[in-house]
Amino acid sequence: MEALGQLAGGIAHDFNNHLTAILGCADMLRHRLQDPALREMADVIANAAGRSSELTHQLLTFARKSPLGRTEVDVHELILEVTSILKRLVDGRIAIQLRLDAPACRVAGDAAQLHNALLNLAINARDAMPDGGLLTFVTELCAAPASEEGSGGRWVRIRVEDTGGGMGEETRKRLFEPFFTTKPSGRGTGMGLAAVYGTVARHRGIVQVSSSPGAGSAFVVALPLLEPDDLSRWQDVSRE
Ligand SMILES: Nc1ncnc2c1ncn2[C@@H]1O[C@H](COP(=O)(O)OP(=O)(O)O)[C@@H](O)[C@H]1O
Ligand SMILES: [Mg+2]
Repeated sequence: MEALGQLAGGIAHDFNNHLTAILGCADMLRHRLQDPALREMADVIANAAGRSSELTHQLLTFARKSPLGRTEVDVHELILEVTSILKRLVDGRIAIQLRLDAPACRVAGDAAQLHNALLNLAINARDAMPDGGLLTFVTELCAAPASEEGSGGRWVRIRVEDTGGGMGEETRKRLFEPFFTTKPSGRGTGMGLAAVYGTVARHRGIVQVSSSPGAGSAFVVALPLLEPDDLSRWQDVSRE
C-alpha cells in the first residue's frame, strides 16, 4: 500500500498540473467561442477535466500528498454537517440515526479531509442500500489500538453502519485499493475508500471494516483525541 501510494502520488501530482492547463483552456474557449456546437465541445472537455481533477485529488489524498490543514476538529459537529448534506443525497427510504455518545470528540487535523472521508463512507452505505435501510453514525471513546499501544491517550471511535447488502471476503480484502470498485462504470470510481484510507492514516488513525454478505457493513475510524493540554499531537501532525 505504501509503494502504491508513492507511485500514485507522483503520477497524480503531474497529472493535476496538466489538468489545470486543460481546464483553463477549455474554460477560455467556452467564453470566446460563438458557435454553440463548438461551445458545447468546450463544455464536454471542461466537465471531463473537472471529473478527472476530482479523481486526482482523491488519489493525492490516498497518497497523502494533499496539504493537511491543522485545526481543532469537533467530530460531532463534523458528523452533523455530513448528515445535513446527506439528507439531500439519500432518498426517504434510508433512515439516518445518530448516536453521538463520546463524551469528548476533538481531534487535530484537517476538517475538510475528515468531512470528505465520513461523507465517502456514508455514500457507500447509501449505495449498499438501494432498497432503503438504516444508516447509523456512532461515536464512543476507546483505548488506543494495539498498533499504537504505549502511546497512551484516549481515542475516539466513529462507526458508520449500514443495513445493506454487505460484502464478501474478496471485496473486503481489496476495499482500500485505489480504483477498486464493484460498481458499474460511471457509478463508482473506486477512489472513495482509498482517499478515506489516506486521510485516516494522515491523522494517525486507523480504519477497519466488518461486514459479511447480507449482513450490512460497519466501518470504524479511530482517531487519537486532542486532549486540552496535548501539544505534542499538534506538533506530530504539523511535521508533515
Ligand atoms: N458500506 C458498504 N457496503 C457494501 N460494500 C461496500 C461498502 N462500502 C464500500 N463497499 C465496496 O467497496 C468498493 C470500493 O468502495 P469505494 O472505494 O468507495 O469506491 P466506489 O464507491 O467508487 O465503488 C465498492 O465498490 C463496494 O464494492
Ligand atoms: Mg465510494
